[in-house]
Amino acid sequence: MEKMWAGRFQKALDKLADDFNSSIHFDHRMYKQDITGSMVHAMMLSRQGIISENEYHEILNGLSNILEDIESGKLEIDMNAEDIHMFVESELTKRIGISGKKLHTARSRNDQVALDVRLYLGAECEQIAAQIKKLIEVIKDKANENKDAILPGYTHLQRAQPISFAHHILSYAFMLKRDFERIGDALVRMNKECPIGSCALAGTTYNTDREFEAERLGFSGISLNSIDGVSDRDFCLELMSAFSILMMHLSRFSEEIILWSSWEFKFVELDDSYTTGSSIMPQKKNPDMAELVRGKTGRVYGDLMSLLTTLKGLPLAYNKDMQEDKEAIFDAVDTVKMCLDVFTPMIATMTVLKDNMYKAAGKGFINATDLADYLVKKGMPFRTAYKHVGEIVGYCIKENLILDTLPIEKYKEFDASFEEDLYNEISLETCVSKRISAGSTGPDSVKNQIEFLTEFLNEKGIH
Ligand code: ARG
Repeated sequence: MEKMWAGRFQKALDKLADDFNSSIHFDHRMYKQDITGSMVHAMMLSRQGIISENEYHEILNGLSNILEDIESGKLEIDMNAEDIHMFVESELTKRIGISGKKLHTARSRNDQVALDVRLYLGAECEQIAAQIKKLIEVIKDKANENKDAILPGYTHLQRAQPISFAHHILSYAFMLKRDFERIGDALVRMNKECPIGSCALAGTTYNTDREFEAERLGFSGISLNSIDGVSDRDFCLELMSAFSILMMHLSRFSEEIILWSSWEFKFVELDDSYTTGSSIMPQKKNPDMAELVRGKTGRVYGDLMSLLTTLKGLPLAYNKDMQEDKEAIFDAVDTVKMCLDVFTPMIATMTVLKDNMYKAAGKGFINATDLADYLVKKGMPFRTAYKHVGEIVGYCIKENLILDTLPIEKYKEFDASFEEDLYNEISLETCVSKRISAGSTGPDSVKNQIEFLTEFLNEKGIH
């Protein structure tokens, strides 16, 4: 295909160099955004008297036919084109002739691509935001269904204190809520600065109306510096940072699912449809989906690092290096979407093995803090109570007992203020139900969290 810029050259571009230079293989996915941007651009040009109304209608018809034909499969995007922008423009000119050649007045591919990527990401993030909400809903439902399940809460992966299963998994819902909001925040900023009309880097001599284009395209404002307009990719970095944090959360959750579904824990059973077998060990049931989500997290971090590194040494304004932004951000978007698509039903179909959780909570002296608090409530300073309980735990370990089975006579030898009611105070149920502080694992707090998340899920929009 002859290049649009061929006029200045004596020789055609080398074939390998041409392939190397071309971005159509990955930017063709922005065809819709490219066409939408061009439609609005043409409308602005005609409103400003830069092209005639007739030319505008020809361009508009031509572009909508191209869009229709691509979507119906009638028109195949030509992989020999340099990029999606060149493809759409040359297809338009092929179809409508002279008017098509006027479309690129008062713009450049530099501001065009900066616009297209923003439009593309806006649409993709709407989907990702909806996927995040779906996962929050699934977590909330799982919590609601398993409100009475008690398991050991861990610190340092050592059994620490009894908690409700609902409280544990709801913590992920709050992480995901922040992820949702982070994406929304980044979009608000991205949509403040519509770059179209920055042209190659210096703006234009035509009397354009950039505000009109911005508004039509759903932006809240325009970029006020044309150099920044064409060279800014902060929005990609911000979104990839938000995606990286989201993936980090999914990865931590995955890690727990992997541990919990092992024979060592057996706190959950993943559904057969989200696990795999082994080619040699007949007994195996592997949590591959969770492992892959954990694995793909590194890939999304890599996308972020790759673009940060690409941009760090670039002089102003546009440089071809910036074409590398797309493969990174597209990969990050695709990976996040794919992970959420699999992760959410994996959690929804997971069985919670309450009895195993409860059994595990019975070992490890995780009610020791509550025993210390029992003494504190009788007037003993916390540090003294803590010391006594430490000695009692040491004694129990030696005698192969647990706090719940140590006889009251023995307790009294450690401190006279111990009475029969201690057993009720340190039962796992009491340890959980008596936690009344705001945000704790206690039932009122869990109910409050569920209500709060339900309200959040009912809110519309992402920003
Ligand atoms: N395909 C290019 C990209 O993705 C479009 C912008 C090209 N601009 C240029 N001056 N060659 O960055």
